[in-house]
Amino acid sequence: MDTVANVRIDTGPPPGQVYYRHRLVTRLCHWINALSLLFLVMTGLNIFDAHPALYWGKYGANPDHQSRWFEIGAMDAPGGAIRGVTRIGPVMIDTSGVLGTQVEPDGSVIDQGFPDWVTFPHNRDLATARRWHFFFAWLFILSGLVYFVHGFATRHLQDEVWPRLKQLRPANLWHDIVIHARLTFPRGAADREYQVLQRLAYAGVVFVLLPLMVLTGLSLSPGFNAALNGFLPSLFGGRASARSIHFIVMDLLIAFTAVHLLMVVLAGPYNQVRSMITGRYDTGEEPE
Ligand code: HEM
Repeated sequence: MDTVANVRIDTGPPPGQVYYRHRLVTRLCHWINALSLLFLVMTGLNIFDAHPALYWGKYGANPDHQSRWFEIGAMDAPGGAIRGVTRIGPVMIDTSGVLGTQVEPDGSVIDQGFPDWVTFPHNRDLATARRWHFFFAWLFILSGLVYFVHGFATRHLQDEVWPRLKQLRPANLWHDIVIHARLTFPRGAADREYQVLQRLAYAGVVFVLLPLMVLTGLSLSPGFNAALNGFLPSLFGGRASARSIHFIVMDLLIAFTAVHLLMVVLAGPYNQVRSMITGRYDTGEEPE
């Protein structure tokens, strides 16, 4: 609002405008899914520790199975000690103290895939881990369905998450990469919507990774397999392959979450997190 000769002239909205960015359902589903994913990963790692190896194809259980492409284990070391080893294909990595071995409170070293602190529950308990895993999996599926139906009905997914064709032009993609590399995020009117890299990341998670995680997870359920006559695992080349893809998708989701959190911190954590809690987002002042 400017004043000229005592006449007030409306010159448009003030800079640093707060607007309503995230609807209640989006916010609720986001937090339910984030919490569910945390528990799904931790209980999943506890379940994985019961057999810390992955295979391609229909079956897999034996150490000498040719399709065994990933494993975490322990090897004898000189002096009666053991060391943790992780193998990815032909590559063997010494992961002692991180993966494969764990130091117990009494100082002894035991053979263990993922360490206790990263699993839920924190002790080796397959039955409890499975129960919590299935609870959070169904919570995640329900909340994911609500998010999808609401997102399509309100056109949030089509208009605000899916990248627009215009945004995918190489010049715009490059511009967004440079902005991210320089950490000079858009402010003002340009900040009223997700930019292209943010849209690509969210669309990849929402339309590819999360559905893949659910479908590969359901492929591992004996009940579902009996009901659907083994249809789901056959989509992925067999049950052992579905389990491998389930694990790889988990890794990609962890990588996404790490970058996502870094971006939230760099872009201004208070404003960002407040927008996902109350819906209100401050676009900041229009650049000069
Ligand atoms: C403590 C953990 C997390 C925090 C603090 C957080 C924070 C946020 C914030 C602030 C936004 C809005 C960004 C903006 O308006 O520009 C957002 C959106 C989003 N986050 Fe997270 N997030 C977390 C965990 C996760 C996880 C684990 C996932 C999935 C793997 C995830 C997926 C998404 C997606 C898909 C969106 C876009 C939602 C939409 O607009 O429909 N977030 N997050």
